[in-house]
Amino acid sequence: MDRAKESAGRYAADLVESGMRVGLGTGSTVHYTLLRLGERIAGEGLEIIGVPTSVATEKEATELGIPLTTLDAVEALDLTIDGADEIDGEFQMIKGGGGALLREKVVAYATRRQVIVVGRGKLVERLGTTFDLPVEVVPFARPLVERELAGLGIETRLRRRDEREYRTDNGNAILDCHFSAGIADPAAMERRLDAIPGIVETGLFIGLAHICVIGDEEGQVEVRER
Ligand code: A5P
Repeated sequence: MDRAKESAGRYAADLVESGMRVGLGTGSTVHYTLLRLGERIAGEGLEIIGVPTSVATEKEATELGIPLTTLDAVEALDLTIDGADEIDGEFQMIKGGGGALLREKVVAYATRRQVIVVGRGKLVERLGTTFDLPVEVVPFARPLVERELAGLGIETRLRRRDEREYRTDNGNAILDCHFSAGIADPAAMERRLDAIPGIVETGLFIGLAHICVIGDEEGQVEVRER
């Protein structure tokens, strides 16, 4: 699995050119992208500025010598590289396994080109069949949101870490939502969920990805463009 992540993550880092403003995603595949960007900055003088999508990525990028900024300083990003938990044939995705969905979606929205790095196991026919959909919720509203989702026939599980309620970088809770038959119409589901007050963001990413880099265990990559 790591070989697949490594090959995809490193390949995407080589799409970055000097002068670019780069969105830096979150997760174990993007970890390899960050390592490669660090190598290129140190080795060939690559000059970029990054906007991280999580506290974890901010910390790792800083340690690797990748210069960082915020959305205060840049209006648009040239390229963003991020992972996914599931991606379908139309490049619709479930993200947020690592809890960074909100900032990831903001950065994806601000970017001109979004490159997704995955191992082949993340490719699915229908979203929601191999991974539960993370939904970020304001803690105050959680009971209401749970009842609303139950009313829609969606099973929810409150995410926990170390026996305590998990909190995102934004101080919110995550409900992992199980769809017994997957999500037939992801765009309609996103609209439905966004209409519930207290839901800050969902892990459904629709129409945001442009390039998908798929790594495999042999270290090969396949690149698909939308
Ligand atoms: C972070 O919240 C997620 O959206 C990640 O991008 C996603 O979970 C992919 O992570 P891995 O590359 O670790 O599988």
